[in-house]
Amino acid sequence: MKILKDLFLDELADMYDAEQRIVKALPKMAKAATCDDLKGAIEAHLKETEGHVKKLEQVFQAFHEKAKGKTCEATKGLLEEGDEIAAEFKGSPAINAALISAAQKVEHYEIASYGCLHEWAGLLGNAKAARLLVEILNEEKAADEKLTALARASSNEEAFGEAGADADAADAGKMAGKVPPGKGRKLVEASR
Ligand SMILES: [Fe+2]
Repeated sequence: MKILKDLFLDELADMYDAEQRIVKALPKMAKAATCDDLKGAIEAHLKETEGHVKKLEQVFQAFHEKAKGKTCEATKGLLEEGDEIAAEFKGSPAINAALISAAQKVEHYEIASYGCLHEWAGLLGNAKAARLLVEILNEEKAADEKLTALARASSNEEAFGEAGADADAADAGKMAGKVPPGKGRKLVEASR
């Protein structure tokens, strides 16, 4: 019968594969970004992601296991969608918003996965693994928040602004970015 440790190691192998795929994908995304701040944020996250690969190897070690990856179909699919949307919006003012949305989908998958792995490491009584996993989790959360801030600061506004034809959408986009989150949502909803 499979136990929690098997599930943990299975998920760990999934993320080990995912992080290596992300290391390969981020330089392409940075190149596609036309906003310098976004380019910089993606490059900074690439450095962190290389660190995540190393930290995951340490987590395997903490369980006396050899590091091994197992194809992460979810990350593979999300990155393929990211490639598609980047190609579709190349040269468009919405390219940065498109890249941010693709990157955030990957981040949210990682946040869910590391949240579980961190909890399970604790349940399995492995404090070292739990500490490494929460370090990765916190970096993923910070990267996600940075992307939200960038989207609000410029990319969404650029995308809406250049659309021009749909003035309501432009107003809604500006409102969502410039007023406090709770109020913004209400204003956007009210404008529909
Ligand atoms: Fe990561």
